Amino acid sequence: MHNERITTSEKTDVLIIGSGAAGLRAALAAAATAPGVDVTLLTKSALKESNTRYAQGGIAVAMNVDDTLALHVQDTLVAGAGICDRAAVEAMVAEGVPRVSELLDWGANFDWEGTLPRFTQEAAHSRRRIVHKGDATGRETTDVLVQQVVNTARIRVLTNAFAVEVLTAEGQCYGVIALVEGEPVLLHAKVTILATGGLGRLYPCTSNPEVATGDGIAAAWRAGCELIDMEFVQFHPTTLCLDGAPNFLISEAVRGEGGQLITIRGERFMEKYHELGELAPRDVVSRAIQNEINQTGFPCVYLDVTHKPADFIVERFPTIFETTQRYGLDIRIDVIPVRPGAHFMMGGIRTNTEAETNVRGLYACGEVACTGVHGANRLASNSLLECLVYGARAGTNAAAFAQTQTVGVTPADSHIPDTATMVSADKVDDIRHTIRETLWKNVGIERNGEGLQETLAQLQEVAEAACTPLSLGDEGEQYTQGTCEAANMLDVARCITEAALLRTESRGAHYRSDFPERDDTAWHRRIILTRDKAPQWIELER
Ligand code: FAD
Ligand code: SIN
Repeated sequence: MHNERITTSEKTDVLIIGSGAAGLRAALAAAATAPGVDVTLLTKSALKESNTRYAQGGIAVAMNVDDTLALHVQDTLVAGAGICDRAAVEAMVAEGVPRVSELLDWGANFDWEGTLPRFTQEAAHSRRRIVHKGDATGRETTDVLVQQVVNTARIRVLTNAFAVEVLTAEGQCYGVIALVEGEPVLLHAKVTILATGGLGRLYPCTSNPEVATGDGIAAAWRAGCELIDMEFVQFHPTTLCLDGAPNFLISEAVRGEGGQLITIRGERFMEKYHELGELAPRDVVSRAIQNEINQTGFPCVYLDVTHKPADFIVERFPTIFETTQRYGLDIRIDVIPVRPGAHFMMGGIRTNTEAETNVRGLYACGEVACTGVHGANRLASNSLLECLVYGARAGTNAAAFAQTQTVGVTPADSHIPDTATMVSADKVDDIRHTIRETLWKNVGIERNGEGLQETLAQLQEVAEAACTPLSLGDEGEQYTQGTCEAANMLDVARCITEAALLRTESRGAHYRSDFPERDDTAWHRRIILTRDKAPQWIELER
């Protein structure tokens, strides 16, 4: 499909989509790498709106006196349940140290104890290695990175600018079509970096803000990118469960500091499920909570920190304290009602350790990408670290690539994918609802073959009834951010379900009740999905 009916077009050298930690860090690296290169950062909401902004627990980094890079690598590989990419993990852990030091140099006001950051504990870490700013690490990180971006004259920022489709010609990416303040614009670029974050909003219970609708994964897939590990969606064990309140995250650090999970009857239960109790891996804790919920018929369990000193609670978890207080809870004396919620996407656009996708001129970093650092299950607080390390790598490499593109962009030949669709405006709410209900029921904390087949059929039915080809210009129904997001959610939901159906075993965050065991003989491999090909596998070394 060609784009001649969109009359507004602009050019840039390096185009970055998304303003979370990955996109911001990529923009800074691109601007620092090549002085003659101009950088445009486009983001669909406000500059500071992202998953990053809401991160609570902190950033994992092997900087404590009793810690080593090897231990951090080992913990990450164990959490990843055997399918991490070791080289990608080693790069993240090693480069994480200078990336976090640099954040401190830029003014990140993390909690400090003597001459070192105050490291906290989170599940499945063998050391206290999480640097943090109370329970608002994401806000602090965002503020520092945004300040750096705003101070860099060569980075142009476009807010309320929604990337609709990736433009390609002969297997190379030439930018995107975007809705800028609602108007369609062709943004041509020598190189494009997708840093659009995750997809928690495909589920009705999620810690993620509204922007997390999987747009980048969907657009990349339609443009011919390989997706990998799409079956691995992480559910955080503890999101707030109160009528009228959002699923606000109750950080894992609360359990790291001694918080205890109890049932409606006041009994602790985690010891029944894992020797590490409340600090067992996230998938184990989420399944345990869901099991207790199913058994009791009560919609939540409780997290209890009332045995901790009141001053400590207020000082260590100010955001959680203030937010729960707004809903009538005083966590110094009240237990907190919690249940699991969709939190993080381990899979995504397949990239190598240089942040390159299989489409030339298209890079990806952060939660939208999958280098393999998280395997089947992400270790707490490794995501912000990944964003800083691979964001910087993406920006540096993309800027270098842009400098090799001497002929400039070739907008006339570039096109959006033939399969680009949108959802009719009057069907957007219904579609979102159907996707969320069916994913929660069948593609959530537990899956089975029958449920996954049912979901695939439902998604197919919805797509046939509601999707129309993307209409550009004056003819047909106009596309909006809402209609495009719904189409993206549909594409991504189908990819997650398809991958979950293929993996007939349980591993990490992917739990199949019909195949409850991990099967290293058949499944020590990773699934790749590409729009125009049958699924492929990467066999992993043993
Ligand atoms: P994001 O931060 O989500 O940024 C994506 C950006 O892309 C946003 O600006 C968004 O508006 C923009 N965007 C999306 N689609 C489009 C489009 N079509 N066009 C234009 N722009 C678009 N991880 C940790 O390591 N430690 C923690 O303590 C931690 N706590 C968390 C707490 C919460 C509540 C949540 C939700 C996540 C937490 N995580 C944590 C996970 C971590 O925050 C995220 O994985 C990480 O911040 C993702 O960063 P990102 O830059 O890849 O994406
Ligand atoms: C949390 O604070 O529990 C979230 C940490 C993470 O997702 O890494």
